[in-house]
Amino acid sequence: MPAIVLVGAQWGDEGKGKATDLLGDQVDYVVKFNGGNNAGHTVVIPTPNGPEKYALHLLPSGILTPGVVPVIGNGVVIDPEVLFAELDGLDARGVDTSNLIVSSNAHLIATYNRTIDKVVERFLGSRRIGTTGRGIGPTYADKMNRIGIRVQDLFDEKILFQKVEGALDQKNHLLVKVYNRRAIPTEAVVEELLGYVDRLRPLVADTALLLEQAMGDGKIVLLEGGQATLLDVDHGTYPFVTSSNATAGGACTGAGIAPMRIERVIAVVKAYVSRVGEGPFPTELLDEDGERLRLNGHEFGTTTGRPRRCGWYDAVIARYAARINGVTDFVLTKLDVLTGWEQIPVCVAYDVGGVRHDEMPMTQTDFHHARPVLEYFPGWDEDISGARSFDDLPPQAQGYVRALEKMSGAPFSAIGVGPGRDEIIQLRPLVG
Ligand code: GDP
Ligand code: IMO
Ligand code: MG
Repeated sequence: MPAIVLVGAQWGDEGKGKATDLLGDQVDYVVKFNGGNNAGHTVVIPTPNGPEKYALHLLPSGILTPGVVPVIGNGVVIDPEVLFAELDGLDARGVDTSNLIVSSNAHLIATYNRTIDKVVERFLGSRRIGTTGRGIGPTYADKMNRIGIRVQDLFDEKILFQKVEGALDQKNHLLVKVYNRRAIPTEAVVEELLGYVDRLRPLVADTALLLEQAMGDGKIVLLEGGQATLLDVDHGTYPFVTSSNATAGGACTGAGIAPMRIERVIAVVKAYVSRVGEGPFPTELLDEDGERLRLNGHEFGTTTGRPRRCGWYDAVIARYAARINGVTDFVLTKLDVLTGWEQIPVCVAYDVGGVRHDEMPMTQTDFHHARPVLEYFPGWDEDISGARSFDDLPPQAQGYVRALEKMSGAPFSAIGVGPGRDEIIQLRPLVG
């Protein structure tokens, strides 16, 4: 049976958590394949006592669906303190987390990497990336530098000590001599990490093997991406990106799944665009429209609480996401947030120094200078949060959606009209 990939099409916070939750009861496994607790997914679940809101960071959003096996894949970087705090938080709310499986090959975020993330950002000053400060970049850098600490290292105390000592050998020079900080003793790091061993051991498995066996047995695997296409370290707006592959290709390496297993690639795309942190953003609105999008859409970071930068829908980005990820289905989210505008601008192409670009410019310099070529679509005033079929939408909202779909490079299969699980218009099935 197949694997399905779900990724973000823009700069994150498109509503991937809600989309995963929507698919939860149609899949057997949900695998997080990249990133760590830089992600923040808000999922709103209906209960007899009213809607319950969950904010997930490190755990796959599928953990909220009873019966699903949530998996943290090898491509993820794990802060063990956050892992157990998040599990405890869910346990306290009655969510069964006992099925969770963690890859033995996933890397661990050690305290020194959190420290380095923060001091480097401070050191960069105006050239900062605006990271989440969770140690993500330094941990992936260690992985590539082959000085990372993996989950399996916790099970061999001697190796763990050697590895931490090796990593700190370089880092302490940097911390003391360049960043004017105190050296971090190996013993303290090892001791902290060993404190997690007993709780971690029963969760750890060869997840790639397990997933292959599960698919062989007819199970359906959903590969859930953190971050998004334009935050991908290879395909995003480098250097203003995260340090992992958040695009569909990253799902294969980050979960250990063969490309031919993937049958469907779903990209979640917001009806406008938001971005947290620094970096270019052609349709960004610094005026009252931007403020209105932020307020109507509650665009404040789930992870850091930072206000998200907001702008109009950018079809160049959507087409790029469709191409890089091989998108078979878009899930359009937050259409309801656009209610109340007389007309809604959409970026259909860029103007770079007088030259029209229908595709992403080849260089970052051109992307920095890209000015949106806007087309205007009539808006609507009706509350659309109760719409459950396309025909329930006012004609202007239908026109807006159809226009976006035409210019975005793949069919729209669902449309979000509110944060709740049922606030969605399903146009065609996303699984099967
Ligand atoms: P993720 O990181 O991609 O999972 O997205 P976030 O959870 O960070 O941000 C998306 C926010 O939008 C969350 O607060 C969701 O509850 C909310 N949301 C998702 N879909 C919709 C929608 O269709 N309409 C509205 N109004 N809110 C939505
Ligand atoms: P979800 O999964 C939005 C951004 C940070 C920063 C850059 C690098 O909720 O969509 P990092 O800490 O990863 O090294 O920061 O990436 N960023 C996100 N922005 N949503 C996210 O995740 C993000 N994860 C990282 O703001 O600009
Ligand atoms: Mg988010």
